[in-house]
Amino acid sequence: MATSAFQIEGATTEDGRGPSVWDTYAGTPGKIRDGHTAATACDHYRRYPEDIALMRDLGIDVYRFSIAWPRVRPGGTGPANSAGLDFYDRLVDGLLAAGIAPMATLYHWDLPQPLEDSASGNPGGWLDRDTAHRFAEYAAICAERLGDRVRHWITLNEPFEHMALGYALGQHAPGHTLLLDALPAAHHQLLGHGLATSALRAAGAPFVMLTNSYTPAIPASDDEDDERAAAAYDLLHRRLFTDPVVHGRYPDLSAFGIDALPFVKDGDLDAIGQPLDGLGVNYYNPTRLTAAPPGAPLPFDIVEFDDVKTTDFDWPVIPSGLTQTLVELTHDYGTALPPLWVTENGCSYTVPPAADGSIPDQDRIDYLAAHVEALDAAIALGADVRGYLVWTLLDNFEWAEGYHQRFGLVHVDPETQDRTPKASFDWYRGHIAQRSGAMQ
Ligand code: NOJ
Repeated sequence: MATSAFQIEGATTEDGRGPSVWDTYAGTPGKIRDGHTAATACDHYRRYPEDIALMRDLGIDVYRFSIAWPRVRPGGTGPANSAGLDFYDRLVDGLLAAGIAPMATLYHWDLPQPLEDSASGNPGGWLDRDTAHRFAEYAAICAERLGDRVRHWITLNEPFEHMALGYALGQHAPGHTLLLDALPAAHHQLLGHGLATSALRAAGAPFVMLTNSYTPAIPASDDEDDERAAAAYDLLHRRLFTDPVVHGRYPDLSAFGIDALPFVKDGDLDAIGQPLDGLGVNYYNPTRLTAAPPGAPLPFDIVEFDDVKTTDFDWPVIPSGLTQTLVELTHDYGTALPPLWVTENGCSYTVPPAADGSIPDQDRIDYLAAHVEALDAAIALGADVRGYLVWTLLDNFEWAEGYHQRFGLVHVDPETQDRTPKASFDWYRGHIAQRSGAMQ
């Protein structure tokens, strides 16, 4: 089971937490559907014991959550905030007492706002190389406080999405629209991953990985132009964030007219390419691509699949894409590839409570059942997959969509914060019981 801090915690001004780029972005009119904010979210900051009890009932072995950097070091630099760390102490102790292994993600997009606000007038946030160093310091603070109990660490969540939506297209915080000029945000995140990995290792962390999102890039036709468009998308989405981590080098980006990466300094790729204990795979759906018209800023356009069932987010439901993702990673990266973990998989469906109060989200059950089968198929074909984590426990703040997209196995009433397990929760509990021993 997986969640992230900003999407569930709330309590955004409590116990010394500072603002993050997401607080700022969500507070800017017009950015989030219907002006929703995450000020309360699922009130997990207070209700975490109830949420741990739900997970214990579900029977999971592993819970992936994220630590909010603005709680732990609100200024991005300077002193750590002990009261913020206390929350994760309580959470981790509660999980361990419930027999659930904590898996902590250090960065799930909630950058401390002071790191975005550059005093020098130069671009801040992940456009600034210094942010990578600040991230490693923050990783060390977390490991020092929690490393005696947290064994599984994830440095970054989905650096591609963070670069693309946050820095290239302006659809997420911090809201830049730099298109390919957002590339330094990719490199500095990866450098942050590398430096944080070294910091975690120095603190004795036994298991470190990076989580990327993966999506098979499917050409819209067998026309050569569409095939080139799909290959270009794969380069940007998959290879840009995987080659440096697995092989310690960037792929050739000449398909984008890029022949040099001047922001890459000596030694960066050694840090980025150091061995990991796993590679996290977030999978939701494949992406279908066609060639963009001549002169367009990017060489591909994303198009819909024909005649495919979709979720409420209009995302196509194609479970075989999970098999394809895992098998292609295995094939393309060979023995250099660390063991894989599916660190997110799930779907958005809004299902109103029935007269008896139950929430019959059969579509989610179908989605999960089909994806678990697709995972088994990948393993049968040779993929080394060590874990599978569902996104997500609670209906929560789905970024620019606010509370409109509901991915939870547990319904959360936004007014009362009451939690009601859905039919998918019962189904998943049965599934776990049947497959006991596998990490879920
Ligand atoms: C991936 C992200 O890591 C997570 O924050 C998000 O809620 C899910 N995808 C669903 O969009």
